[in-house]
Amino acid sequence: MTATALSTPAGLEITPRDRKFGRNERLTRLWHGGRVEATAIYNALSTTFPLGEAFFVESVRAFREGTPPSLAEEIRAFTTQEAIHSREHDAFNKRAIEAGYDLTRLEAQIERRLAVTRSRGPFVNLAATMALEHFTAILAHQLLANARHLEGADRETAGLWRWHAVEEIEHKGVAYDTWLWATRDWPRFKRWKVKARIMMYVTRNFVVDRTAGSLELMRQDGVTGLKAWSLLMTYLWVRPGVFRKIAGAWFKFFLPGFHPWNEDDRHLLAGYASIASGTEAKRKVRRAA
Ligand SMILES: [Fe+2]
Ligand SMILES: [Fe+2]
Repeated sequence: MTATALSTPAGLEITPRDRKFGRNERLTRLWHGGRVEATAIYNALSTTFPLGEAFFVESVRAFREGTPPSLAEEIRAFTTQEAIHSREHDAFNKRAIEAGYDLTRLEAQIERRLAVTRSRGPFVNLAATMALEHFTAILAHQLLANARHLEGADRETAGLWRWHAVEEIEHKGVAYDTWLWATRDWPRFKRWKVKARIMMYVTRNFVVDRTAGSLELMRQDGVTGLKAWSLLMTYLWVRPGVFRKIAGAWFKFFLPGFHPWNEDDRHLLAGYASIASGTEAKRKVRRAA
C-alpha cells in the first residue's frame, strides 16, 4: 500500500457495539470449564486490557492530527471500540476479584511495563501498539476460527471474548496504517528495524508476563510448582495450544510487505453474525474520540 491509502477492506465498517456482559451474574471462579490453567490465562489476559487498551488509544490518538480524513475516521472508530473493550474487561475483572482472585500483582506489572514504554516517546508507543494489535488480531483469529479455545467456558464470558475478537479483527489495520502514515518519511530499513525491534521486545514481555501472571493466579487456586508449569505449558503450547497456533501469523509481521489485512479473515466475522450484524450494531454509540 502507499503511505496514505487505507488497507481495511472496502465495505468493512469498523462498528463499535456497546455491549455489556454478565453484569448481574456472579462469576463462577473457575469459569473456563472448571480448569485452573484455562481460567488463569484468560483472566491474566483480561487483566491487561483496561490499562493496555487505554494506552493503545492514547498512542494512536497522538498521531491523528493531520491524518487523511478516512484514516482519522477509522482512528475514531478504533478508539471507541477499545474504550468499550476496556470498560467490559474492567467489569469482568471486578467480577473475577469478587470470585476471589487478587489481581494487584498482575496490574502492578502492567503498570511498570507501560511506564517504561511511555517514557520512550510517541513513535515507540505507536510501534508497541501496532505490535500488540498484531497479537490481539492473531489471537482473535484463533478464538473465532477454533471453537476448542472457548469450549466449556461460561456462556457470557465466552460471549465477551468473541465480541472482543470480532472487533479486534475489524480494526486490526488501524494502528498499522497510522504507523505507515506517521513514518511515511522514514527510510524503509529504519521503519522495519524499529518495528522489528519493538515486536521482539513486546513479544518477550508478553510471553513472560502472561506466563507469570497465569502462574500467580494458579497459585491462588492452590496449584503450584511443576504441576502448574506443566498444565499451563501444555494448555498454551500443545492442546489447544493457542501460542503454538499463532506462531506462524506472528512471524509474518517481519516479512517485507506485511500488512494485517494481507490475511483477509472477514469470513470469521460472518461466522459470528449475531455479534457482527445483530441489532446492537445499529445502536448509536457515543464516540469516545
Ligand atoms: Fe480491544
Ligand atoms: Fe485492538
